[in-house]
Amino acid sequence: MTNKIDRIYSGIIGLDALTQGGFKKKSINLVVGGAGSGKTILAIQFLVEGIKRGEPGIYITFEEKKEKLYEDMALFGWDLAKYEKENKLFFLEYTPEQVKNVLVEGGGEIETIIENKKVKRLVIDSISSFALLYEDELTKKEASLELFKLIDKWNCTAILTSQAQGTDDLTTAELGFEVDGIMLLYYLKLLGKRTRGFEILKMRGTKHPLTTYVFDITKKGMTITNKILKK
Ligand SMILES: Nc1ncnc2c1ncn2[C@@H]1O[C@H](COP(=O)(O)OP(=O)(O)OP(=O)(O)O)[C@@H](O)[C@H]1O
Ligand SMILES: [Mg+2]
Repeated sequence: MTNKIDRIYSGIIGLDALTQGGFKKKSINLVVGGAGSGKTILAIQFLVEGIKRGEPGIYITFEEKKEKLYEDMALFGWDLAKYEKENKLFFLEYTPEQVKNVLVEGGGEIETIIENKKVKRLVIDSISSFALLYEDELTKKEASLELFKLIDKWNCTAILTSQAQGTDDLTTAELGFEVDGIMLLYYLKLLGKRTRGFEILKMRGTKHPLTTYVFDITKKGMTITNKILKK
C-alpha cells in the first residue's frame, strides 16, 4: 500500500525518519517539556525548515523576547532578522488576551498576515499561558477547539509548545488539548548528568516508534540520535 498522506519535513534532524516522512500536512502538534528542554529551538527549527522550502512561517509568543531569541538562534546559523525582512518569517509578541481576541474575531491580524503572505507553518510558544485564561476544563477545551478550527481554515501545519509541570513523567492527563500529535521532551538527570530525551506519544495516521531517543542540541540545532534513553 502506498502512503498517500501529504507530509512536510520537520527540519529536526532524525525526526522525519521516525514519522514516515514528517508531520502530516495541516496537523497540529504539541511539544511538551520542562524549562530548557528545547521546545523553542524545536519550534524555530521547524519554521526555518519551512522558510528554506519556500513556506513562510509565523511565530506567536507570549514569553520570548525577539532580540534575545534572534541572538540565541543565530548560534545555529538561523538569521531570523533577515527572514523577517524578507517577509518569510512573522514574529508576533502577543498577550494571551490578544490571542483570545483573535478567537473572538475569528481571525484578526493573524489571519490577514497568513492569507496575504501565504504562511504555511505556525508556532505558538507557548500555549500554557493561553490555557490559564480559561477557568475550567470545558471552556479551555472549547477555546482550543476554536483555535484549532482557525489553524485548519488557515491551511497551516502547527507546532504548539507546552510547559510541562514535571519533567520526569509526562502524561497526556495534563494536556487539555485535542491535537494530532504529541511529542515529549525530557531533560533528565541520570547519574549526575542531564540527558535529553525525545518521545513521540502520539501522531495520528503515522506509524512511529514507541522508543524514547536521546537527542542533542548541536550547532545545527536539535538532532535526534538512534540511542535509546535508558532510565
Ligand atoms: N547554541 C547552543 N548549543 C547547544 N545547546 C544550546 C544552545 N543554545 C541553547 N542550548 C540549550 O538549550 C536550552 C534552551 O532551549 P529552549 O530555549 O529551546 O528551551 P525551552 O524548552 O523553550 O525552555 P523554556 O521553557 O524556558 O522556554 C538551553 O538551556 C541550553 O541547554
Ligand atoms: Mg522556550
